[in-house]
Amino acid sequence: MLELERPIVQAPMAGGPSTPALAAAVSEAGGLGSLAAGYRTPDAVREDVRATRTLTGRRFGVNVFVPGPPGDPEAVHRYAEGLRADADRAGVGLGEPAHDDDAWEAKVAVLVEERVPVVSFTFGLPRPDVVSALHDAGATVLVTVTTPEEAVQARATGADGLVVQGVEAGGHRGGPSDEDGVGEYGLLTLLRLVRDAACLPMVAAGGLVDGASVAAALVAGAEAAQLGTAFLLCPEAGTGAAHRRALEQGRDTPTALTRAFSGRRARGLVNRFLVEHSAAAPAAYPEVHHLTTPLRAASRQAGDPEGINLWAGQGHALCQALPAGELVRRIGDEAASLLGR
Ligand SMILES: Cc1cc2nc3c(=O)[nH]c(=O)nc-3n(C[C@H](O)[C@H](O)[C@H](O)COP(=O)(O)O)c2cc1C
Repeated sequence: MLELERPIVQAPMAGGPSTPALAAAVSEAGGLGSLAAGYRTPDAVREDVRATRTLTGRRFGVNVFVPGPPGDPEAVHRYAEGLRADADRAGVGLGEPAHDDDAWEAKVAVLVEERVPVVSFTFGLPRPDVVSALHDAGATVLVTVTTPEEAVQARATGADGLVVQGVEAGGHRGGPSDEDGVGEYGLLTLLRLVRDAACLPMVAAGGLVDGASVAAALVAGAEAAQLGTAFLLCPEAGTGAAHRRALEQGRDTPTALTRAFSGRRARGLVNRFLVEHSAAAPAAYPEVHHLTTPLRAASRQAGDPEGINLWAGQGHALCQALPAGELVRRIGDEAASLLGR
């Protein structure tokens, strides 16, 4: 489906880490680089696409968040009350917990107009008319799933393939459901179940950091491996300074799933904010994301890793600070040699 020289997809990483330079370096090395449209304005997405095209003539992908239903306003209000002490300590107000669709329709229109070669969707299923508009513009369309049932639903949208995300993955759970206990399969089991249920080309994601783990995912039926955390320390990544330091110095730090930062389950390094607020955090995305934005900005500015979302997958201790192209070549070639290809 993706016809890659090396079967490595650099995961789209919203919130800073994904940059045109990172995406281009990965595509130039024979993988597939990705941009993240999440949290960006439609104009910024268009600029990123055009900037990437100045750096590489090769194919790359863009990922879009599909909007979901609003959360319970009462639950969001109660959660906000529990964050007041943090806000006072940081000397900032809380953000406005508004529900929004992250300019979904306008972003899809940009991707159609710019004829982006690969488009992936996360947090939900795109409508079939959106998939066919992208097909008409020449795109390969992928949908992120975390259960066999979601895979069957994703196939019905007309998508060309699935990003199959195991529970090991850093960042948000990418499937349509954000219910506790739903979509928490280990990657290898999920690949076998999804292949059986939906029979579409699969890109495997979650905890893959080196040639051996990528080879394992390919043996389990994936066409390519999507790695996020492995790229966070690359010089081309826009990973914030405190996040980078936490990854470099916290090799023994465990990860956990939490809604504390955004209102949607996501995996990150365990820190103070995650420990103190996970139990009370409601399922309300992006309301909670907006609520905690000033708190996270203050911690980031202070260089304090204890108050920010340190997204990382379970394999984070193995990530290396290498240029992205070199990383793709190393991991891709190690996987190929293990597979005798
Ligand atoms: C910092 C960070 C940001 C992420 N942002 C996105 C995103 O915008 N869209 C998306 O589909 N997945 C996102 N993900 C999840 C990745 O697509 C992928 O599932 C995950 O990185 C795979 O697990 P790994 O981090 O262990 O490699 C993000 C992951 C990380 C670590």
